[in-house]
Amino acid sequence: MNKDLLSIKDLKVSEIKRLFSLTRELKKRRKRGEKIIHLLDGKNLGLLFEKPSTRTRISFEIAMRELGGNSLFLPSEQMQMKRGETIEDTGRVLSGYLDGLVFRTYNHQILTKLARASTIPVINGLSDLLHPCQVLSDMFTIERKKGDLKSIKLVFVGAGNNVCNSWIYASAKMDIHLVVSSPRSYQPERKILEECRKMNPACHIELVHEVYEAVKGADIIYTDVWVSMGEEQEREKRMEAFRDFQVNQRLLQLAKKDVLVMHCLPAHRGEEIASDVLDGPHSIVWEEAENRLHLQKALLVMLLGEGNGQYHNE
Ligand code: CP
Ligand code: NVA
Repeated sequence: MNKDLLSIKDLKVSEIKRLFSLTRELKKRRKRGEKIIHLLDGKNLGLLFEKPSTRTRISFEIAMRELGGNSLFLPSEQMQMKRGETIEDTGRVLSGYLDGLVFRTYNHQILTKLARASTIPVINGLSDLLHPCQVLSDMFTIERKKGDLKSIKLVFVGAGNNVCNSWIYASAKMDIHLVVSSPRSYQPERKILEECRKMNPACHIELVHEVYEAVKGADIIYTDVWVSMGEEQEREKRMEAFRDFQVNQRLLQLAKKDVLVMHCLPAHRGEEIASDVLDGPHSIVWEEAENRLHLQKALLVMLLGEGNGQYHNE
């Protein structure tokens, strides 16, 4: 496995499968009441965040605690970075103290610079471009619910940015039929689409602008906020552009009867998703959010632990 996890692109299929199997194991053990599993005894994880977070920060913090390690929350505005210390220098210094670092940033290029300068594993905790931990965990959730990733049609409705871009890589890696339905000016990164089509010429990724067309026969409808962190000044423009892309009961009628609805959260009820859908019988968002903890535990064991996460086979 590579030192860092910056993108799903960098993982081998066998590594993703191992991650899922370890996630299953750790989830099972937690449900059995084994609260502390000493796989990361004495390890320290830093959480360097430029943006707010509920799920990512807390699930990583709890994951470290339950694996016997520690975590330190490092809001970027309280670091010397705020006063001009370079990200490379920050990475070099933190590598001397910590065993791993999660970084949430406005700029994916800064994340790659940090990873290059650091000698410890760096994990992408969301950048403007990608959100790999979210989508890895979502694939795990879908596999648990549907049994197989290859036979599903997943329709991503809405903003073609970080979460959606990670779905494109996931689709190419794991052969998931992915349909993206977004307003024309908010489509996912064309470069990522081209890269994935080269990486896996058989990948099944479609862009279907007409949302009512896109969701026909969907097994999963997935959505994300219309206004991402850092885009608040575009709010009005976006509300107008995304108006027809709300996941609501009318849209659900067109999907398969047993369609599942997913959302990375936080949700803006009444914007990208209607409240009765989020709280309704098709929604699996709470389990989806919980699985962030289990998957990230497995990821930490694989990146920071001894033996590359093989312990459960011993
Ligand atoms: N989905 C997700 O990453 O949530 P947070 O922004 O709360 O971490
Ligand atoms: N696209 C959203 C995802 C939040 C988890 C954002 O970047 O704010």
